[in-house]
Amino acid sequence: MLQEAPTSKASRARFITFEGGEGVGKSTQVKRLLQNLQRHDIEAVRTREPGGTPKAEAIRSFILQGRSESWGPGAEAVLFAAARLDHVNQLIAPNLRNGTWVLSDRFHDSTRAYQGLTGGVDDKLIAGLESLALDGHAPDLTIILDMDPEAAFKRVAERAIEDGLALTGDRFEKEELEWHKKLRDGFLSIARDNPDRCVVISAAQSEDTLEAAIWEAVTQRFPELLRGSQA
Ligand SMILES: Nc1ncnc2c1ncn2[C@@H]1O[C@H](COP(=O)(O)OP(=O)(O)OP(=O)(O)O)[C@@H](O)[C@H]1O
Ligand SMILES: [Mg+2]
Repeated sequence: MLQEAPTSKASRARFITFEGGEGVGKSTQVKRLLQNLQRHDIEAVRTREPGGTPKAEAIRSFILQGRSESWGPGAEAVLFAAARLDHVNQLIAPNLRNGTWVLSDRFHDSTRAYQGLTGGVDDKLIAGLESLALDGHAPDLTIILDMDPEAAFKRVAERAIEDGLALTGDRFEKEELEWHKKLRDGFLSIARDNPDRCVVISAAQSEDTLEAAIWEAVTQRFPELLRGSQA
């Protein structure tokens, strides 16, 4: 049976995560980056957290319905880790092994920011759960979309109105503005602490301009994309 040649380091599949507060445009830009990669003949998939696999999606709906809220941020961090472990083992790692790039709409930095930096869960617990769930699969690049949370709220509200929904949102969207400001600072401090992995991009620009800025960051980090060495 024909064996696939191992991919060279220059052309290996990459794992890119998108992070930031609510409504900053993560989902919009993950889709656009996927299309841009595919236009360059790169095999890529997009996924999201919490979720990405059937078991992790079950945990997602449990958490986002607010059913774990009374358990506190520590137990929620454990639930996120359980979901992430399945996501990594069943979707992220197998795709990367097959040479398929993986784009995730949120990943471990969201746990650091939500449960750790704003939820007050002990650093050691966060770090221990992270190393268990990631099993060596840290992202190669993390795009942190940054903007004023009030302006991002407006986007979420407009989206809800467009969809004919009242703005009830999930429970995170009901939290106070101050809390969201703290969350924003949390993501920025993660970026400061991980300058080799994280790129902060202002999300307060049009979808097209933001898409171009993200593509520039991605190709700067992975110049093999423009050399076509993957093809
Ligand atoms: N650059 C942009 N300028 C203006 N509106 C935008 C921009 N990007 C996205 N939007 C709109 O803002 C809303 C939120 O975008 P999106 O769902 O991509 O954000 P998100 O970060 O994934 O949000 P959430 O955290 O709720 O998942 C959508 O209605 C989207 O169409
Ligand atoms: Mg989204």
